[in-house]
Amino acid sequence: MGNDLPVLISAAAIDRRVTELAEAIDEDHADAGTLVLVGVLKGSFIFLADLARRLRIPHRVEFIAVSSYGSLESEQPGAVRLLMDVRHPIAGQHVVVVEDIVDTGSTLDYLLRLLAARNPSSLKTCSLLHKPERTKADVTIDYLGFTIPDVWVVGYGLDFAERHRTLPDICELPPDRR
Ligand code: PRP
Repeated sequence: MGNDLPVLISAAAIDRRVTELAEAIDEDHADAGTLVLVGVLKGSFIFLADLARRLRIPHRVEFIAVSSYGSLESEQPGAVRLLMDVRHPIAGQHVVVVEDIVDTGSTLDYLLRLLAARNPSSLKTCSLLHKPERTKADVTIDYLGFTIPDVWVVGYGLDFAERHRTLPDICELPPDRR
């Protein structure tokens, strides 16, 4: 597929960083038994697939889906709703939530509260991207790929109106292309 969007993070740079993140997660969970990776749909699906295949520790994959913006007039901006829950309980297990991007932080904040209430043995966060200029929620990203400026990014799982998710690079989508 042809793509003329400006590349912000190349596929090669992503590849190297994903390996480093997997190594850090391996090291921190060497004695954790089976790690539970919770991928946040949809944006994390490519990152999660690459990350999971580089882990050496035993792990299983779960998915969770939320809507990150209040779509109803009655909802507050930043309101998050659960659309699909994980399939198996996480109590007593070591969990890493895997996100493609932390923007305002509302989604991760909501998910951490939801999952912490289920008493996992540990609960950590991994995000490929972070836009610190936009983040309002007080969330910790334990494993972070890249800090980026406040630009709209697509590719490697991230979309604009469901387009561009499968680009190999992370690209900037200029305002005149939206
Ligand atoms: C994006 C992204 C995160 C969330 C981050 O999801 O995948 O889950 O927004 O934003 P926040 O930090 O401001 O909460 P999106 O709603 O675009 O859905 P998608 O992953 O299905 O594309």
